[in-house]
Amino acid sequence: MSDSARLVVEGLRARVEGKEILNGVDLVVPTGEVHALMGPNGSGKSTLAYTLLGHPNYEVTGGSASFDGTDLLPLAADERARLGMFLCFQYPTSIPGVSVVNFLRAALKAQGKEMPAREFLRTLSAVMGELKIDESFRSRYINDGFSGGEKKRMEILQLALLRPRLAVLDETDSGLDVDALRTVAEGVDRVRGTDMGVLVITHYPRILEYLRPDAVHVLHRGRVVVSGGHDLARRIEADGYDPILGAGAGTAAREGNP
Ligand SMILES: Nc1ncnc2c1ncn2[C@@H]1O[C@H](COP(=O)(O)OP(=O)(O)OP(=O)(O)O)[C@@H](O)[C@H]1O
Ligand SMILES: [Mg+2]
Repeated sequence: MSDSARLVVEGLRARVEGKEILNGVDLVVPTGEVHALMGPNGSGKSTLAYTLLGHPNYEVTGGSASFDGTDLLPLAADERARLGMFLCFQYPTSIPGVSVVNFLRAALKAQGKEMPAREFLRTLSAVMGELKIDESFRSRYINDGFSGGEKKRMEILQLALLRPRLAVLDETDSGLDVDALRTVAEGVDRVRGTDMGVLVITHYPRILEYLRPDAVHVLHRGRVVVSGGHDLARRIEADGYDPILGAGAGTAAREGNP
């Protein structure tokens, strides 16, 4: 395993509500790379995201997961967040009573990145402008009454401000119109850098056209069964999962990388 590897998952098994969902996931997301995680509905993608981020309902029953050499499994969700791990949920929750501006300040504070009020507001305005989010959103309650696309943009705003070291985006592209999709992809592109890894969970190869992932992994029945380059996503779009899962299910296969 290379020294620069950041997220290293080996043989990870997990269950929820007494049901085995992850059956030995192997996955490495090195520093500075963008990886895509694809797979049919119910294959365990969101479960993997929640398990990695330490959601208490997901019980790890085997394997290992480390981040920058630190064993994640004994750590609570907030401790993982302090390590710089960030999850954009598939279904973001609204928090009535908490404004966007207060939420973001509190989130920065929780990560030990508190800024003076003026600097924070200046930074917030700049990032909102880049992401084409209207200033009026600052005083709205977080995700309350937001459209699907607006919720997703709000997550990208969090990402841009918090600058985590590993971002897991669970279907941040679903429900977005074409322009919003591009905005989100550009947002991710802008915040990714040499010190940040990104795992994008998606059903849509279109976002990958913008993000140009370094690797694409396919999860099936709780295991990564095929990994490859961007071309793998294009083949899934063209032919569906059947040809790939038929060939690769059971043992993890590595395909040619770009
Ligand atoms: N809390 C739960 N209780 C029972 N079963 C669950 C629970 N959470 C997930 N599962 C089951 O685990 C399996 C994997 O679910 P998961 O949400 O991880 O899939 P996914 O790959 O993210 O699917 P999708 O593409 O539809 O988002 C599904 O069969 C789901 O019904
Ligand atoms: Mg999911």
